[in-house]
Amino acid sequence: MSQVPEDPNRVLLFDTTLRDGEQSPGISFNAAEKLEIAQQLARLGVDIIEAGFPIASPGDFEAVRGIAQRVEGPIIAGLARANAADIDRAWEAVCDSARPRIHTFVSTSDIHIEHQLQATRDDVRGLARAAVAQARDLCEDVEFSPMDATRADVEFTAEVLQIALDEGATTINIPDTVGYTTPDEYAGFLTRLYDLVPDLRGAVLSVHCHDDLGLAVANSVAGVQVGARQVECAVNGLGERAGNASLEEIIMLLATRRDRYGFHTGAVTTEIARTSRLVSRLSGYAVQPNKAVVGRNAFAHESGIHQDGVLKERTTYEIMDARSVGLEANSIVLGKLSGRAALRQALEQLGYTVDGQTLKVAFERFKELADRKKQVTAMDLEALVTDELRQETASYALEWFEVEASSRRPPHATVGVRSPDGELLEGSFTGDGPIDAIFRAINSATGVDTRLREFHIDAVTGGQDALGEVSVVVELGNPEDAVKTSVPGALSGQRVTGAGQAVTTDIIEAAGKAYVRALGTAMQRAHAVVSDAELARTP
Ligand code: KIV
Ligand code: ZN
Repeated sequence: MSQVPEDPNRVLLFDTTLRDGEQSPGISFNAAEKLEIAQQLARLGVDIIEAGFPIASPGDFEAVRGIAQRVEGPIIAGLARANAADIDRAWEAVCDSARPRIHTFVSTSDIHIEHQLQATRDDVRGLARAAVAQARDLCEDVEFSPMDATRADVEFTAEVLQIALDEGATTINIPDTVGYTTPDEYAGFLTRLYDLVPDLRGAVLSVHCHDDLGLAVANSVAGVQVGARQVECAVNGLGERAGNASLEEIIMLLATRRDRYGFHTGAVTTEIARTSRLVSRLSGYAVQPNKAVVGRNAFAHESGIHQDGVLKERTTYEIMDARSVGLEANSIVLGKLSGRAALRQALEQLGYTVDGQTLKVAFERFKELADRKKQVTAMDLEALVTDELRQETASYALEWFEVEASSRRPPHATVGVRSPDGELLEGSFTGDGPIDAIFRAINSATGVDTRLREFHIDAVTGGQDALGEVSVVVELGNPEDAVKTSVPGALSGQRVTGAGQAVTTDIIEAAGKAYVRALGTAMQRAHAVVSDAELARTP
């Protein structure tokens, strides 16, 4: 079955936020969060969602299965190493989708073959053949990736690709796994593969670039220029180490410079800003202010000359319109007197269907906010709904807090934290500042030794009454103790981090909630490392 788009200039968007993106340090999405992100990616118009790595954990499996069952439109892919158990599990997770895909991979670089796989080139040929054959027996749509291809011997990689194509792979993805290549080198590598493997023209060629040298987007587009028609990328450039090519940059580069490249995607660009905000909130990764396309300053003009120019004619200093990426879509305004029906309608306009208990909770939070803030905008509502989603599923929850702050004596905080098994834990501490005091009181309540690694505070909208948004990254001081693992050495020497974010009008409360969520994420990640260690021990 050929997946090659009929339109030769159409570039397919393959989003891997939920798989490679989740491999960013500190990120761990739960199933509800993954589903919410997948639904938003469908609204954004991506063609393929890589929903996860189903064999990695029962949680990942369930999340991929939920997405396959409920998200309509895009192809839903599950990742699998080149072995029978992974492929069966990936198929089990994606088979309910109307458009399932199995994505299987094995390394072709000698560095990986020798040191990681501890195998031979011949083993790799055999693994690729068996994996693609098995996947094709199960699923019509099979993607194959020769991992670390850009550091591999091109002739050997070509041989492995020919095997994958002979066994029926429909998409061939060429990963720059360690972000090592350059645009001209990558384009040359892909061109050489086309020469060595003429059958590649009957499949979709895909690019998958990491950003270790800041070249992921440039390398991806260089690949598209020589024939690739699928780009693998992630929202806000999330991903292993320095991240993957940023989805929003790829979309806007191809849209803004269509005059130069002539390519287009199926993206609804006005959904970009919202997708970025959702992923930032659920991942706990704040977007840097000067980030291309979605950073707070991407459309801000500071110098007088620029401001003057833009006021006279926007295009003097702007190559994109903020509205085209959805940055100024802040129109819905509700107030103190708005009722439940108005709230529900406003949420529906934003794409959220809320009923019953969820509507009740959303309404309570909306009323609290409307009491403190004159106008509640679309951005506020979006922040509240995302925050609520996070709260429902967090493993620890901040129930209450008291903070005494004064310039005459050290600040003191007392907190009540609900543990994952429902127990109310109390703790108190005197810190250097009110936020330090609440963080340390949380450590004392939970008994988990956690160190603060990052702390950001921001406002959701302008104005003195704006909602405050806090992002926190914490590191477990002693991961083995925190998760009490029975797998010897599973966590030894590992740095386990967790990110959390929260939104409220009170920044001390937002900080406390974000910290507790970050702690919960770090614990989940520590458990995931332990199950990875268990997985690695299974033959
Ligand atoms: O970077 C990489 O090589 C990957 C593969 C699994 C495609 O993420
Ligand atoms: Zn990758």
